[in-house]
Amino acid sequence: MGTREQDAVLGNAAFHTPAPGRLIQWGVGPGNSADVYVLAEAAQTGRRCTVALHELAAEEESGLHVHTLEDEGFYVLEGEITFQMPDDGIEIHASAGEFVWHPMSRAHGFKTADKPVRLLQFLLPGTELVPGVFELTEGEKGARIDSPEKFAKFAETVDRDYGMRFGGPDGPPPSLRARSSQGPFTPDARLLMPPEIDTVVNSPFKSDPTTVHKLPQGPMYEPANLIFHAFGHQTGNVFGMLELIWTAPGMIGPHTHTLEDEYFYVVEGEFTLHLSTLDGVVTYVGKAGDWIWGPRDIPHYFTVGESARVISGEIPGGTMIEFFYGMAMGRGSDLTTEEKLAEFKEWSVKTSGMHDLAEGEWPGEVIPAPTSH
Ligand SMILES: [Fe+2]
Ligand SMILES: [Fe+2]
Repeated sequence: MGTREQDAVLGNAAFHTPAPGRLIQWGVGPGNSADVYVLAEAAQTGRRCTVALHELAAEEESGLHVHTLEDEGFYVLEGEITFQMPDDGIEIHASAGEFVWHPMSRAHGFKTADKPVRLLQFLLPGTELVPGVFELTEGEKGARIDSPEKFAKFAETVDRDYGMRFGGPDGPPPSLRARSSQGPFTPDARLLMPPEIDTVVNSPFKSDPTTVHKLPQGPMYEPANLIFHAFGHQTGNVFGMLELIWTAPGMIGPHTHTLEDEYFYVVEGEFTLHLSTLDGVVTYVGKAGDWIWGPRDIPHYFTVGESARVISGEIPGGTMIEFFYGMAMGRGSDLTTEEKLAEFKEWSVKTSGMHDLAEGEWPGEVIPAPTSH
């Protein structure tokens, strides 16, 4: 599973894209070439999202552009990059380990610092922009954009077919939102944690990986460190992102999400996902750089070997991340009686539509995480 040929039919099945994904070498402008690796296409995710890994050179600029169809999120894997968002009146500087969100319909662009950058790009909902726009300029197809005339033609095609608009000599493409529709704005582009906000918005922000929470030991959970990168309340409830860091073998036991599809990107270590599908149990062993997709309503559990760092989240966003935030705030820290355990499980279902499987409901043996002792 996981090859493009097998998954090109529109659907929403579980799949695994081994690192680094499908390479497209693309270029806009003379001598300008970049590598993008496609990790998830719209056809594979039921149009929930598309995801790509970009390898950018030092001091590279994207040019200001507007997406009319997708909100866009960026997780910086390596290097430093500055996002310009002139319609929002801000620039966001981001380093490795930080996540940046920018809603659709307003101009944005980026510029890398003096070192190369590796960047994960999430587009919500999934459209044909990835890989379509990049394939238009794929170097080996001889379609490289190497003159102003070719760029004008390219920009016209991209606007017509992908709803993506570039700026020109007169400046950036115009925002498609009235000022009044921009909602409450985060002045310093900082991710607002739940106690700080009581309104659902869709505004630019940047996460703070220095704020680390704990996932405590639970009946189905091993301890982990948690970094909250995106809550539903700041993405118009379309996206959530959580980073889980294990420094010892760990697992999360069999459960089912009824409201959201779940994604995993393995940053470091090894992460094994077991899914109970209609075709039987499918196991994906995720290594660093791998992408794994697990649609809603498919029971699953996962294990971590010696250690792992995994980016995960749900689409659409909002409820599962609230579940983990509740855990980080102490929910489930005392499950010493049957009553407390039942109350915790009821809270879990009510908060996130997430159901733990009862003993024996998983088809077959649940394989624990390997341990070195
Ligand atoms: Fe963009
Ligand atoms: Fe899950």
